[in-house]
Amino acid sequence: MSTATIESSAPTGHRLHPVALRIMHWINAVAIFIMIGSGWKIYNDDAIFGFHFPDAVVIGKWAQYGLQWHFFGMWIFVLNGLAYLSYGIASGRFRQKLFPISLGEILATVGDALRLRLSHDNLTHYNAVQKILYLGVMLIGVLIVISGLALWKPVQFSELADLFGDFQTIRLVHFLCMSAIVAFIVVHVSLALLVPKSLLAMVTGGPTVDEAKPRSTVASPIEATP
Ligand code: HEM
Repeated sequence: MSTATIESSAPTGHRLHPVALRIMHWINAVAIFIMIGSGWKIYNDDAIFGFHFPDAVVIGKWAQYGLQWHFFGMWIFVLNGLAYLSYGIASGRFRQKLFPISLGEILATVGDALRLRLSHDNLTHYNAVQKILYLGVMLIGVLIVISGLALWKPVQFSELADLFGDFQTIRLVHFLCMSAIVAFIVVHVSLALLVPKSLLAMVTGGPTVDEAKPRSTVASPIEATP
């Protein structure tokens, strides 16, 4: 007797952006806002470059308050970020949405973007530019936390601090990561506003995505071949 394997495929409907993901995304947006505004206040106390951030855009009346806001935001950013990264890896979301990225896909997407022909019809598929931006900002997010830890506790995290060199270099790396995140936000928010349905989807969850996944594998004594 031969055994055949029958795969029953049932649609598994879930929203494009599950509620947990949306909550983490918006918590992250608030945390980043606090981190950047308070970071600029701390920077103003001892500027690296020849400029200061205007009082209107910083958080904290004095540098000490800026520091307190920064530590408050830090816990939210790090804990929420760890939850998001764990969720993305464990649920397979990163694998599905952000990989693979091929050189051909990158060239095609950049070509489309330059000809202003980038399609936004399908919200469920991230194009190569989106994939790179999202993966890139996650890597920068990790680097900004590592450099921040080295700045915060240079003695306890001396191995981390040694990776960068001296204290001023760590400050510079931390500052450059912030600049990259600000650049990401400008592009990211502009794109979200240009394609309002993508913004709405990050609020409401977006369309239901039906992924026909093999649910169960049943061993059956039925002859499979005709
Ligand atoms: C007010 C500010 C923000 C708005 C309006 C916004 C909007 C959006 C929208 C509409 C999406 C849906 C994805 C798409 O269709 O491309 C998205 C996804 C995403 N956003 Fe934002 N965002 C904001 C802030 C941020 C910040 C500060 C970060 C990180 C530094 C960030 C990181 C991401 C990532 C990584 C995704 C992909 C999420 C996933 O699919 O797993 N966003 N955002």
